[in-house]
Amino acid sequence: AIDVLKLRALTGAITYDPGYKNSGSCKSAITYLDGEEGILRYRGYSIEDLANKSNFLEVAYLIIFGELPTKEQIELFEKDIRKYSLVDEEMKNIIDGFPKTAHPMGVLASLTSALTAFNPKVVNAECEKDLYEAVCKTMSKFLVIATWTYRKAKGYPLNYYDNTQSYVDNFLRLMFSIPTQPYEIDPVVKNAIDKLFVLHADHEQNCSTSTVRIVGSSHAGLFASISAGVSALWGPLHGGANQAVLEMLEAIQNDGGDVEKYLNKAKDKEDPFRLMGFGHRVYKNFDPRARIIKKAADDVLGKLGVDDPVLEIAKKLEAAALKDPYFVERHLYPNVDFYSGIIYRALGIPTEMFTVMFAIGRLPGWIAQWKEMRINKEPIGRPRQVYVGEPLREFVPIDNR
Ligand code: ACO
Repeated sequence: AIDVLKLRALTGAITYDPGYKNSGSCKSAITYLDGEEGILRYRGYSIEDLANKSNFLEVAYLIIFGELPTKEQIELFEKDIRKYSLVDEEMKNIIDGFPKTAHPMGVLASLTSALTAFNPKVVNAECEKDLYEAVCKTMSKFLVIATWTYRKAKGYPLNYYDNTQSYVDNFLRLMFSIPTQPYEIDPVVKNAIDKLFVLHADHEQNCSTSTVRIVGSSHAGLFASISAGVSALWGPLHGGANQAVLEMLEAIQNDGGDVEKYLNKAKDKEDPFRLMGFGHRVYKNFDPRARIIKKAADDVLGKLGVDDPVLEIAKKLEAAALKDPYFVERHLYPNVDFYSGIIYRALGIPTEMFTVMFAIGRLPGWIAQWKEMRINKEPIGRPRQVYVGEPLREFVPIDNR
């Protein structure tokens, strides 16, 4: 047998793959993605079927536990999520310490990490009961604190989980209900949110998921690993793109609405500007989620009767880019974030909250990937490097430098 360590010591051979464009970091049975064909499946079920026939909590169960739940299983899951939904009152002191203007993703990462302090029990990954309890706790407490980041920014009192409501209904009430006004859930809004959560639920080894796995590979806890995932998701090249899309569309509108000018900026290699919401590391064909969400965006805008000049710019930009040889040759299609931002805006969700919405949707994926990594007893993640610094140098005393 070859001693890999000895061989490496002799040859210095290391695979160099910046951005991990061609490196598989793990074996996973959760999500199948074919970027050339534009196929996405969770646990073998097509994203189209799941988006049209299932719902977010069922999909979360599927992703985390591997099978679609029976009626009894989903009822129990929902009940167990409720059981752990109370967030320690002292967490409110932490959120009170943030300025109202703080970005909700920064607050969410901090609060998620703080959950570790209030729930210090170490999860024994070999024990099914421990894992199940950790899953339910994370599903409920994360949802509550995610909505608190919005309420904090608005100056609203913080809401509690309502044990008589479903998961997505709870999300809407936690976010939007205020004591002085009755809050009615609009089915169009609820369906759109549920679908968006389903479409974001997992996406194999993307930046935030890889982060969750690598942090968890040191046996850091679930809340700590997910907090790291939130930070990774925040960046504009990943989940933060949905916020960046809307900011870009507003900038185009404020600058006279000239879509071609911005297409040219994106094509100019001297200009760092990129068309936000276009392109994807893996999809070199239309993102299948974008197809579904584009239709949902049309439905929501139609049903809510939204008339918004920024959304008109989005349509113009999309049409122009899809015809432009620069984007066509590089297979730069609109990705899921291009349309999700449009729906969130139509639903009245403030731009800074868009990435938090993504995080709520991605939560089951992060949990499932962390659980899979621990159950498979994966080794600690520890990439190597190609050293390009100085060779051995003689130390120079400070007086001689
Ligand atoms: N606008 C203009 N040009 C682009 C864009 C864009 N949005 N995306 C890629 N390109 C160009 C690159 O300049 C490069 O051109 P070149 O071959 O002439 O040098 C070519 O297309 C390939 O791009 P890469 O950067 O190599 O692709 P990579 O896989 O590294 O990046 C990424 C993928 C980060 C998503 C990129 O397309 C991008 O920055 N898009 C905008 C941000 C965005 O929408 N992110 C959300 C991704 S989806 C998600 O996280 C849920």
